[in-house]
Parts: sequence; C-alpha cells; structure tokens
Amino acid sequence: MVVSLCLALVTYVPLLWFVRETDGMPDPNHRDRLMRQEASRQTGGLLTLTAAEQKLDAYLHRIKEQEMSAAHFLPAVHFFKAKPLIEKSSVFKLLQKMPKGAALHVHGSSMVSPEWLVKNVTYRPHCYICFTWDNSVRFLFSDRQPFPRWDCFYWQLLETLRAKIGDNTGFDNSLIQHLTLFTEDPDGEYPNQDVVWEKFEKAFIAAAGLITHAPVLRDYFYRGLEELYRDNIMYVELRSGLSRTYELDGTIHDKIWNLNTFQEVTKKFIRDHPDFLGARIIISVHRALSVSEVKAAVKEAIQLKKEFPDVVVGFDMVGRENSGRTLWYFKEALSLPAELGETLPYYFHAGETDDEGTDIDQNILDALLFNTTRIGHGYALAHHPLAKELSRKRNIAVELCPISNQVLKLVSDLRNHPAAVLMSEGHPVVISSDDPSLFGTTGLSYDFYEAFVGIGGLKANLATLKELALNSIRYSSLPAPLKDAALVTWRNKWNAFISNNS
Ligand SMILES: *[C@@H]1O[C@H](CO)[C@@H](O)[C@H](O)[C@H]1NC(C)=O
Ligand SMILES: *[C@@H]1O[C@H](CO)[C@@H](O)[C@H](O)[C@H]1NC(C)=O
Ligand SMILES: [Zn+2]
Repeated sequence: MVVSLCLALVTYVPLLWFVRETDGMPDPNHRDRLMRQEASRQTGGLLTLTAAEQKLDAYLHRIKEQEMSAAHFLPAVHFFKAKPLIEKSSVFKLLQKMPKGAALHVHGSSMVSPEWLVKNVTYRPHCYICFTWDNSVRFLFSDRQPFPRWDCFYWQLLETLRAKIGDNTGFDNSLIQHLTLFTEDPDGEYPNQDVVWEKFEKAFIAAAGLITHAPVLRDYFYRGLEELYRDNIMYVELRSGLSRTYELDGTIHDKIWNLNTFQEVTKKFIRDHPDFLGARIIISVHRALSVSEVKAAVKEAIQLKKEFPDVVVGFDMVGRENSGRTLWYFKEALSLPAELGETLPYYFHAGETDDEGTDIDQNILDALLFNTTRIGHGYALAHHPLAKELSRKRNIAVELCPISNQVLKLVSDLRNHPAAVLMSEGHPVVISSDDPSLFGTTGLSYDFYEAFVGIGGLKANLATLKELALNSIRYSSLPAPLKDAALVTWRNKWNAFISNNS
C-alpha cells in the first residue's frame, strides 16, 4: 500500500502542478525542457559549442532558414537539377570550406570525374574505342589494332576518329554521357530503379578499359585523392575489387601490383600534401558471384590483408541488392574467417532497398550477425527495430549516401529519407558519396548539403556537422594511435575553419 501510494504521488503530483495555475495549458517551462531534451538526442545534440562556434551557428541558422523558405527547396528536387542551384548556396559554400574528416563509402572505380577521364585519359596515345550494339562504349589502350573482344568487333583509334569527326566538344560530351548517370532529364531517362541500375552497371563497364590501363591507374588514384583533398577531406576508405590492370602490350598485372601501386601513389600524395592522412581499401566483390567464387575471394582477402596490413582493411559485397544474392546466401563463404580463426572485418552494404519484408531486406540483420563493422547505406534500418538497436549498442555506424539514394530512386524528396529518424535520435552515422563520378559530384560537400539541409532540416546545426565530421574519423578503420593523430589534425583544421568564418 505504501509503495503504491508513493507511486501515485510521484505520478500525480507533477501533473497536478502543471494544471494548477494554467487552466489546463501545459507549463511553458516544462515544454522548453522537453524540447531541449529532445534536441539533445540528435546527432551532435550533446556537444557544447564555443562562443565562436555559436556565432557561426547563428549565421548558419539564418542562411539555412533563408534557403528553406526559397521557392524551390533544393533537397526536394532531383540532384541533377538542383546541382547548379546548390552550387550558388551560401550553406554549400560554407560546407565546402568545412573540414569534413573522412570519406568512408566511396567506390574506387567511380572516384574521379568523367570529364577528366574523357578530356585527359582518352586523349592519350594508343586509345581505341568501340561502340557496342547496346549503345555503350568500350575503351582499350593497345600498341596494335585490338582483336575483337567482349562484344566489340570494330575498334577505332580515337585520335583518327576525332580527326574525322571534327567536333571534339560534342563528341567528348557524348563520351562523358556513357560514364555517368548525370543528365538534365533524370525523370525522363530513368523512369524506374531497373532502368537507372542498368545504366549504372553499364557506366562502370565503359570506364573499366580506361581505368585499368596500368599507367592511367596511377594518375587516376592520384587525381581521385586530389578531388577529395580539394573538398577538405583528409582520409578515405575505398571499396575496390582490385581489378587486374594491363599494359600497352597486353601484359596483365595482378592484385598485388594493384595494391603496391595504390600504396605508392598514396605515399606520394601524402608527400605532396602532408596534411592528408591516407587511403585504405575495403576489398569488394560482386554479389553476382557464386558461393565458391566468394569463398575464394574471402580467402584471398584474408591473405592480402596480411600482406598489406596498412592498406587492406576488410571485405564487402557490392552490386544492386534487390536483384542480387543475399548475404545469407553466401553464409558459408562469409563464415570462413571465423572458421579458420582469421580476422577479416566486414563493411557490408546492407539495406539499400525499399522492398520491405523481402529476403534482401534481411541483409541488415545478417550483416550484423556477421559482425559488420559499419553498414553501407542502411536505408532500410529504420524499419528494423531490433537491427537498429543492435547497431546502436555495438556502435556500428551507418554510411549515409543521400544523393546516391535519390539518384538510384529509393527516395525523391530527401526530407523523407529514413535517416531523418536516425539523425534525430543520434544513431551513429557518417556521410559519404558512394559513386561521385556517376552522380556528378566531387568530394562530400554535396552529400553534406543534402543531409544537413534536407534530412536534418532546420534543427540540424553546427554541432550536427561537427559530430558528423568527428564520426567519420571515429568510425574509420584506423588503429587507435592513428585515429588520435587524425583527431588532432582535424581539430586544428576545425578551429581554423571556425576562426576564419565567425
Ligand atoms: C593529364 O593528367 C596528367 C596526370 O594528372 C597530367 O600530368 C597531364 O598534364 C594531364 N594532361 C592534360 C592534357 O590535361
Ligand atoms: C561475431 O562475433 C561474436 C562475438 O564476438 C562471435 O562469437 C562470432 O563468432 C562472430 N561471428 C562471425 C561470423 O564472425
Ligand atoms: Zn556503395
């Protein structure tokens, strides 16, 4: 009795107190407190801003409010149409200057702008082109007329073809179109997910002949790091299949060559840009492979991680989840490391789908069962309460790639992105770009813009941005001492950013 009386008092006294003087109107102080409490749960909600940061935050709030009341709310517009307008935005310009930390979800084969591939790489000598029956292109560097291969019977030397055509600008633009999804009419060209994914896979194949030419690959990596660095990013983890590369005479290099080259280029880049921290690789294989092929790939990845402990960080499976095989389908292959007593951290793409309740929708839970270190996309995570709880408890960050999700047609108005739920409750999240060359972006500023203005809304503030940048280092694969060093470097950059802009 005593107990229940106490409970009754605890329950009823505050309520009585609210209605006491206010005729049923809730107490404004209580309301304020609840609002503050709720705000403290969002990404960055527990950070305390310095006076200088508060000043910048107030300015940021003002300019964001202006942008949100403009005639067209940009995150609600398809990125391909919004891009030129985003580039004029004051919020965006500030985001470009902001030290954003690390890019943790970028695919190596789409990290460099297609303009560079066409205007630089295809102008190199010995570059052949072929147009395929399905309206795509293939490129090949060769010191002699190439034999028919793939679906190509007629190879033309680009130099000769360009001389015949005359109009380089028009021709180059048509080549660029093969290497990107970017177009002025996204809704007309990509009516559904199937069409956009088909073009997506085609663009990868088209670019392959350029990127896998050994001398090009060196420049390509360097250029890719440069594009990130210019956008104030200091570290990157690339998903890569480590495709074999070839020389003019047809010599083929293996994955070891690829990793050595990657390491050399990264070292050179750091020599040239001492405040850049480095680049590492998550070995990725396509989910179209068979179980035995994935088994072999897992074993190989374990081996490569031993040989390149500073470069190879783990393993992932890529390709469209909806039409591909589930993680569970590959369970025998993915259990191999545990079975062999080896370590191979996973960084699975999971839940990049809106097909709720299907087998593929289970990928998120399965990724967690296989002890994934991060979740790529996790678009479906908000619909899986248990998986969400587990990922939070185990501190497994979601790699949020807003523009990718919009272009690949999971969501059109980014205010409706399910990550709005994750960000409002402070779920571990990092922002990334997925496939910059395909989506017409470089660096992370465009994705930060969409996440900050569209997904985060007006309540996302400077603390949100600070936490997102910190998260990118916190949830990276860097070992603890390097992480600490990275945080020191980042904080210096952040403080400089604040004092230059407040
Ligand atoms: C092509 O790229 C390479 C490496 O980045 C650079 O050295 C060269 O000057 C570029 N050439 C042209 C024509 O832009
Ligand atoms: C995942 O981690 C748990 C706990 O450390 C371990 O028991 C389990 O074997 C791991 N599973 C796999 C597939 O690696
Ligand atoms: Zn991806």
